[in-house]
Amino acid sequence: MSTLKTVSSWQQEPKGGPGCDATDLGFARALLAGLTKEHKSVPSRFFYDKRGSELFEEITELPEYYLTRTETAILTENAEAIRKQTPAGSLLVEFGSGSSTKTEILLETLDRLAGYVAIDISPAALDEASQRLRKRFPELPIYTVVGNFSSPMRLPEQFLSVPKLGFFPGSTIGNLERDEAVSLLSNMREILGPGSRLIVGADLKKDREILQRAYDDSEGVTAQFNLNLLARANRELGTDFDLASFKHQAAYNEAEGRMESYLVSTKDQSVRILGQEINFSAGERMHTENSHKYEIEEFHKLCCSAGWAIQNVCTDDDRLFSVHVLQNTA
Ligand code: AVJ
Repeated sequence: MSTLKTVSSWQQEPKGGPGCDATDLGFARALLAGLTKEHKSVPSRFFYDKRGSELFEEITELPEYYLTRTETAILTENAEAIRKQTPAGSLLVEFGSGSSTKTEILLETLDRLAGYVAIDISPAALDEASQRLRKRFPELPIYTVVGNFSSPMRLPEQFLSVPKLGFFPGSTIGNLERDEAVSLLSNMREILGPGSRLIVGADLKKDREILQRAYDDSEGVTAQFNLNLLARANRELGTDFDLASFKHQAAYNEAEGRMESYLVSTKDQSVRILGQEINFSAGERMHTENSHKYEIEEFHKLCCSAGWAIQNVCTDDDRLFSVHVLQNTA
């Protein structure tokens, strides 16, 4: 269990001792494990190095990627209602904060926050966002945590009796399988504690053409984002992936209710990772991401399985995206 230190910025110490870069080893091991399976795959959390976080920001501005724009509009529209439901002096805790752009809507609106805790896997994104927010909200205590929020974590002692508002926007939850989403939401309930609330954004099921365009844009930014996984391996692990012989592929899996992303090898080739040779045959693909899409009711059942009660749900007029306010009534 990691404990947040009560300084204005805290970064988790690398595990593994001196001379051992935990992040690189984690990436190398995960890559090797994923690429030695019968159906090759790489966990999507490795997209987000500095370059990957930048490319994701570019995606959010694409005309085809409706998610960010729509969620921002929903939050803006409902900010006042959220303010009314949130006690003054609450602690805002964001899971997967990235650039913290949507957070500003809440920071502007909510009354006298006790602080803002930003948790993300990208140290670069956290640094940039916290610097910007410190300028914009000089009175606000900001805490940054580099990490993966899927494991238990303790909030600082002094916030024990402060009301907590969790924030998990962006349909980040969509990256998880449905059963993993339940465990994550339940872990967040443990972290935030009794009486807390959680605002979570979930992308909705819709016409598959809209989804297809959102995950395979005409400018090829999503393709670059996907291929950056291999570019990152080349930069950090010294692998020699030939980026020109892998192609981005996005496909809607109707049965699973999700967009799936792949990198397809366009020829027979092999790559060495940690001294091990990995072979790709022409047309063979590695699975790099799932982005699950929900019906509102289905999502509510999932939240209830995680022990949350539903306070309310907001959508846009076109029913593209949903924002849910959950309550930990325990
Ligand atoms: C940041 C995980 C919500 O799944 O829509 C964007 C990432 N992948 N385009 C998503 C992503 C391809 C995004 N999330």
